[in-house]
Amino acid sequence: MKAVKSYSTLCKTALWEAKHEPYYRTDFGAAYLGDARQLLASLPEKSVSLVITSPPFALRTKKNYGNPDAEHYGDWFRPFAREVQRVLKDDGSFVIEIGGAWTPRQPTRSLYQYELLIDLVRTLGYHLAQEFFWFNPAKMPGPAQWVTIDRIRCTDAVSTIWWETVVSRLVRHLSTS
Ligand SMILES: C[S@@+](CC[C@H](N)C(=O)[O-])C[C@H]1O[C@@H](n2cnc3c(N)ncnc32)[C@H](O)[C@@H]1O
Repeated sequence: MKAVKSYSTLCKTALWEAKHEPYYRTDFGAAYLGDARQLLASLPEKSVSLVITSPPFALRTKKNYGNPDAEHYGDWFRPFAREVQRVLKDDGSFVIEIGGAWTPRQPTRSLYQYELLIDLVRTLGYHLAQEFFWFNPAKMPGPAQWVTIDRIRCTDAVSTIWWETVVSRLVRHLSTS
């Protein structure tokens, strides 16, 4: 039964590839350009081993590509996360590199990336496989007022990385493989 299912997913994936023109292709695979929500929605279910993303962060500074604020971050991210959950294979992983942000107008940190993690687990049913803290000393010092003028805060030098799994499916997968 499992082999039949994998064969059907392979056929659906091949059909998907035949219908979509890659942005570029190398010997290692193809890259597709588009809105991730639409591309994900077009993919067959349980056909992807790994989704890795560095989404827009909830920074105080607004970017041209559009970055949601901390208050609305979960509402913005949930549709992506639902689609990812649908397309992930039973042993699939969802890895999110998500930088921290300052609270607007005060020298304190937002908790939005931790709230996102809890939302993914409590609301959507993901499980935290493992967390990573990426030490990145190349970040710009800021906000200038608190980091370089008043010097009451340090330069932010860490990004969090949440490695998510759909563990109920993973456990089933491990016990049947
Ligand atoms: C935080 S930046 C990623 C930065 C990147 N990790 C780097 O180090 O340069 C977020 C990226 O997500 C892209 N993006 C935003 N919304 C998107 C969407 N709906 N689908 C696909 N990409 C999107 C933006 O264009 C932007 O390039």
